[in-house]
Amino acid sequence: MKGLILSGGKGTRLRPLTHTSAKQLVPVANKPILFYVIENIVKAGITEIGIIISPETGDEVRRAVGGGERWGVKVEYILQERPSGLAHAVKTARPFLGDSPFVMYLGDNLIGGDITELINSFQKNRPDAVILLKPVDNPSSFGVAEIDKDGNIVRLVEKPKEPKSNLALVGVYLFSTEIHKAIDEIKPSLRGELEITDAIQRLVEKGKKVHSHLLEAWWLDTGKKDDLLAANTVVLDEVVKREIKGEVDANSDISGRVRIGKGAKVIHSTIRGPVVIGENCRIENSFVGPYSSIGDNSVIINSALEHCVLMEGCEVNMIDRLEDSLLGRGAKVIKNTKKHHAHRLSIGDDSVVEF
Ligand code: DAU
Repeated sequence: MKGLILSGGKGTRLRPLTHTSAKQLVPVANKPILFYVIENIVKAGITEIGIIISPETGDEVRRAVGGGERWGVKVEYILQERPSGLAHAVKTARPFLGDSPFVMYLGDNLIGGDITELINSFQKNRPDAVILLKPVDNPSSFGVAEIDKDGNIVRLVEKPKEPKSNLALVGVYLFSTEIHKAIDEIKPSLRGELEITDAIQRLVEKGKKVHSHLLEAWWLDTGKKDDLLAANTVVLDEVVKREIKGEVDANSDISGRVRIGKGAKVIHSTIRGPVVIGENCRIENSFVGPYSSIGDNSVIINSALEHCVLMEGCEVNMIDRLEDSLLGRGAKVIKNTKKHHAHRLSIGDDSVVEF
């Protein structure tokens, strides 16, 4: 069994963070989403992993993941010249996949729990495809499955205007080599992409064995700002254990599950977990409240924040209260102390500022 991770595409929904970098590398609890994906595949015993990359963000993904040594596996990169769809990505990966069955995992999907059991049952029962389903409130934004009362798949439709159910396709799929023939038999959708949903629907039409599982654990498609904050909240709740490697002075109060990286300094501040503070940060005269992730080399001075994600190298200075916010690498939010009290901004494309 091989693993295929899709880490190409455009990432338009997470702009401005993804104007210049890969959405799969956006951190959740200070760790790139893609690393959670790799860890979940490795946990299931898969040692050969192919990662689909795009010409725009491929180098950044390569630099972050390397050859897979960190996880004791072999990672190969597969360049997809254009983001022509998930099924097109599988087509591009055919030389890597060969005759092997494989798990395909979308590089921006986070799921709770692991996929080991799913893979074990796939290897025992040998179906042609296994899909994971989860009820959602907005099925039109996903691939949607219509199933009969016995749980058999009747039809799969990609982003239907009038969904026949609330069961969304989660971005984790298991396939036999039959999927390659099905992909050869489909045409691009209205949005011009070769859809994996259409290829699986083709398997259903051909009478192939397509099984579905309802995912019990949580699932987050980290496409937008609020999804990312939600993912951060869920993951901080699940994974953070108290671990203080940095320095905390006697005037500071650290409560709950707080992780502080090495080289970080906490001075005269209150940190209330769950919170992750990266390496070499400086937190001074400040309050960092629950569900915050502070990236490496960030500085927070005379400020209070809660439920925020700060990527690497941020600065928050003299800000009374920052909540529900997402700051990209090197971003600064600073109070203007000059006599002339104007707001002065230097922000990237598609940024949002709420005063
Ligand atoms: O998140 C689950 C949903 O993912 C499913 O419910 C849908 O059926 C499925 O089509 C997919 O929908 P999205 O529109 O959310 O897919 P997106 O374009 O965001 O791409 C998902 C991942 O695959 C992302 O990490 C980028 C990567 N990708 C995407 C395309 C289109 C590629 O590597 N190559 C591509 O050509």
